[in-house]
Amino acid sequence: MKAIPFSRAARMISRGTWSFMTDRPLVVSFELTHSCTADCLHCDKGKIKPEPDGLLRAADYGRLVRQLKPMAVQLSGGEPLLRKDLAEIVRAVKEPSGLPYTILVSNGRLFTEEKYLALRALGVNQFSFSLDFPDERHDGFRQSPGLYQHLSKLVPALAAHGFDDVALNTAITRENLPTLEDTYERARQWGVSISYSAYTPLRTHSMEHYISSTDDLDLLRRTLDNLLKLKAQYGRIANSDWTLSGIHDFFLHGSIPGCTAGRRFMVITPTGGMRACSMYEDTFTSQKEILKEWVPKNECGGCYVSIRSYLDASFWTLLKDNLSNRVFTKESQAKQC
Ligand SMILES: C[S@@+](CC[C@H](N)C(=O)[O-])C[C@H]1O[C@@H](n2cnc3c(N)ncnc32)[C@H](O)[C@@H]1O
Repeated sequence: MKAIPFSRAARMISRGTWSFMTDRPLVVSFELTHSCTADCLHCDKGKIKPEPDGLLRAADYGRLVRQLKPMAVQLSGGEPLLRKDLAEIVRAVKEPSGLPYTILVSNGRLFTEEKYLALRALGVNQFSFSLDFPDERHDGFRQSPGLYQHLSKLVPALAAHGFDDVALNTAITRENLPTLEDTYERARQWGVSISYSAYTPLRTHSMEHYISSTDDLDLLRRTLDNLLKLKAQYGRIANSDWTLSGIHDFFLHGSIPGCTAGRRFMVITPTGGMRACSMYEDTFTSQKEILKEWVPKNECGGCYVSIRSYLDASFWTLLKDNLSNRVFTKESQAKQC
């Protein structure tokens, strides 16, 4: 992934430090809709549904960003490309400073090169496309025929623009475990990065996709070790080494303590409800209320999705990671401008 220009990284670090010290969320995930063009086997947000009354509008997202002042926002869902007013939403969340760092998470189905160029011009900093398998098995898992073929044309075409702001994200399941290195190779072939996270049963309440047998756990350990080596040699894996290794611990123990949902990150539902995390439906009207009512009782360790695995880290680890991975030299800054 592209390193971040020094001036923007400095603004992000100063915003992040302020959020960390004042218990404001570093990252806010806006679920722009709970409707989706796909119906993934591991997800609870599938299928096209009518939008509810009271759907937030672009101006509401602007107001929420000014109120919560996150360092980064995720525009997710459901499928965010179903929102006809997506461009207005992006315009509304971006401050003149370029903050918050804006990540669009999509299954890619409704994406085109034109939309990519328009959205990045408006300020989307990172485009994250979900890919569960390195071939047509992706279509079966997502119940979306032709999706893999579409991505196999779209993603390399976007990467060819050379902005280095496109990534794949792969939720590791029992089914795709044997294909994870091939998916990494696909990312390299397509000229993009990849980020791995772990399947959580919290969305579907099903252990069907969970990795639990000794043989599968061994394969996972070997695969993650290989991915760490590939990362050291060729790069293109966005996870820090410790979050990648942590995926094995998560599946082994079934839980990882120390979740910082509601404190370091939070979710806004399509109608403006505030949640600590997308896996729990307890809904509040302010982050203060989440901090008071939900956070002290939170003993959940049931997921290791990237947002959580990363933001559980200490302030110093995050700062060190951001400085070493994200901030770049004057030379690469010059190339970008
Ligand atoms: C809920 S989707 C919404 C954005 C978009 N529709 C997409 O497919 O990327 C965001 C991400 O959550 C992941 N996801 C869904 N269910 C999951 C689960 N049970 N465990 C881990 N990740 C999951 C998906 O693979 C996807 O990468």
